Amino acid sequence: MTALTLALLALLLIAAVVLVLAPLRQTGVSDPDALQRSQLETERERLFAELRGLSDDTESRRPELENRAARVLRSLDGMPPAPAGKLPAGWLWGGLAAVAVLVAVGAFSFIPSWQLRGLNSAEAQTVKTAVRLPGLAARAQNSGRVADQLTWGRAAFDAGQYDQASSAYASALKQNPRQPEALRRLGIILLTKNDGQAQAAKPNDQAFLLIRTAAQLAPNDSESQLLLGFALSRYGQDALALSALERYRSLSPQGRDADQLISAIRSRQNSADPGLAVYAANCASCHGAAGGGGIGPSLLRAGLTRASVAAITRNGKGSMPGFPNITGKSLDALLALVEGWQK
Ligand code: HEC
Repeated sequence: MTALTLALLALLLIAAVVLVLAPLRQTGVSDPDALQRSQLETERERLFAELRGLSDDTESRRPELENRAARVLRSLDGMPPAPAGKLPAGWLWGGLAAVAVLVAVGAFSFIPSWQLRGLNSAEAQTVKTAVRLPGLAARAQNSGRVADQLTWGRAAFDAGQYDQASSAYASALKQNPRQPEALRRLGIILLTKNDGQAQAAKPNDQAFLLIRTAAQLAPNDSESQLLLGFALSRYGQDALALSALERYRSLSPQGRDADQLISAIRSRQNSADPGLAVYAANCASCHGAAGGGGIGPSLLRAGLTRASVAAITRNGKGSMPGFPNITGKSLDALLALVEGWQK
């Protein structure tokens, strides 16, 4: 627990005690709304208790209960303030109960969410998911249903619990092998399994097959293309990897997961092929990192001759600007690259 959390807890306690004790110092006036107020308060306590008592099975009722609690709190807020007065002893106990409730609710929901807020949102999500894992695992193992195993696998994967995720996905695949998510995620876990170890593991063929099968089953799933790109780059298939990663980006324009790999592959290619370096600097933004097209048309298999590419590069074409400053060795390397793509 952080110092901030402790300080806030202490403040809550002090505020609650002051609230409870303040009315006792004053003299009695009758409260015309007393009945309605106490009914609302009873209802509020009941809802809070019910909320705290929710289990995995009844978790689905949370939104409805929270809604009702919010309505009760709003009605209480909307009531005229309770006249100061000598209150029945019930009030004192009610107040103490409210302190207890505040602290309990705080301890179980409020405080942890503050602590989570200190983490970045991805980490917070991971923690939340990890908390749910044991319940999901038990459910999957009891029911044996594919859907439950997938839910468990997904949660374990998201929480970075890859051993659990692979057993969940493996059992789901045993029942039905045509499941792209289970295939590709199991594949990527196998493929990256030995990454941390000293002896460079040679790529795992079976893992690659799983990922490729998933991409064939669900080619328009952005994750299929992302993981295919990762797997292909493991096999040194840089050009194919790049086009899978580009497809990932067009399927999931917000996705940033491929950026690092894309730039790593590009710089690897650029240093291996001077033509690619020229291409990456001048042409890739419109024609795609691997020539597959973008704002400009695809340059792969477009039946372009070396001379026509040279002319278009120098003079431009339509909305494409000319690049008269690309000359000499750079131009030769660029033309050789685009020519190579035509085969
Ligand atoms: C600002 C975006 C942009 C950039 C940068 C760009 N191009 Fe283009 N390119 C286009 C567009 C748009 C077309 C289609 C023009 C048309 O047909 O009117 C095109 C057409 C072409 C064509 C003809 C393709 C065909 O099938 O007819 C070639 C070849 C080509 N570009 C090569 C290059 C090369 C090489 C570079 C880098 C030196 C480059 N382009 C940079 C936008 C761009």
